[in-house]
Amino acid sequence: MTAKLAVVTGGARGLGVAIAQLLAERGHHLLLVDRDPAVADTAEELSREGCEASSVVADLTEDAGVGAVVDAVRRRGGLDVLVNNAGITRDARLSKMDVDDFAAVVDVNLIAPMRLTQALVDDFRDGAAVVNMSSRAALGNFGQTNYVTSKSGLVGYTRGLALAWAPRVRVNAVAPGLIDSAMSRAMPEDVLAGLVAKVPADRIGEPSDVARAVAYLVSEDASYVTGQVLIVCGGRSVAP
Ligand SMILES: NC(=O)c1ccc[n+]([C@@H]2O[C@H](COP(=O)([O-])OP(=O)(O)OC[C@H]3O[C@@H](n4cnc5c(N)ncnc54)[C@H](O)[C@@H]3O)[C@@H](O)[C@H]2O)c1
Repeated sequence: MTAKLAVVTGGARGLGVAIAQLLAERGHHLLLVDRDPAVADTAEELSREGCEASSVVADLTEDAGVGAVVDAVRRRGGLDVLVNNAGITRDARLSKMDVDDFAAVVDVNLIAPMRLTQALVDDFRDGAAVVNMSSRAALGNFGQTNYVTSKSGLVGYTRGLALAWAPRVRVNAVAPGLIDSAMSRAMPEDVLAGLVAKVPADRIGEPSDVARAVAYLVSEDASYVTGQVLIVCGGRSVAP
């Protein structure tokens, strides 16, 4: 079988690295995208492990950045998997939230995936799959009106795109809960412990939990699954 090209945005660190590593283990070639030049290190490490991997440094909120990704995909002859994983937070109570911080989060988390998918529409090979990285926070979270808006908007975009592109390309979303990451480690220890205590699975999620959900959704096992959201939160979304 010919290896499939997977494009993973936000591939410089965190969940993007875990997703890239697992897709590489499952036989994909990788094209990693990030505005952080450290994305080249992830690609180098994957190459050392035997994966055909390259990277593009690009800001996905800019036309030039999206154009650079499209060029790189075309040099590699098209793509089979796109994981729109790059994302940011700029938390504040709504009464104190700067409009620019609201717009910036929506721009990176929602508009950038739209720009990229639209620009790549002709480059997806038949049977391709897109996964958009939403969040359990799409259901609601204090102090994150901008993030909640962007991640619930991304669920709507997933549903719309799934319908627009069926049957050629499947489009789904993964919505992680609390995951062990730079974001969660930045919280005060007691706050983090309080949040973990609310998780029915009784532990914080690992990046690999999210990566396995992504790997499932882009695999043949999910060939009849499109327009869906897989919430990976240890049951937090059903807890009172
Ligand atoms: N970590 C969690 O607990 C958690 C939970 C739910 C959802 N998520 C989502 O998962 C995704 C990854 O989270 P993470 O914890 O790995 O975050 P992270 O901050 O560690 O990594 C995000 C990456 O996205 C890149 N990025 C940001 N803006 C960009 C832009 N404009 N263009 C290109 N690259 C850009 C950053 O440089 C960074 O490398 C995000 O979309 C986040 O919202 C994370």
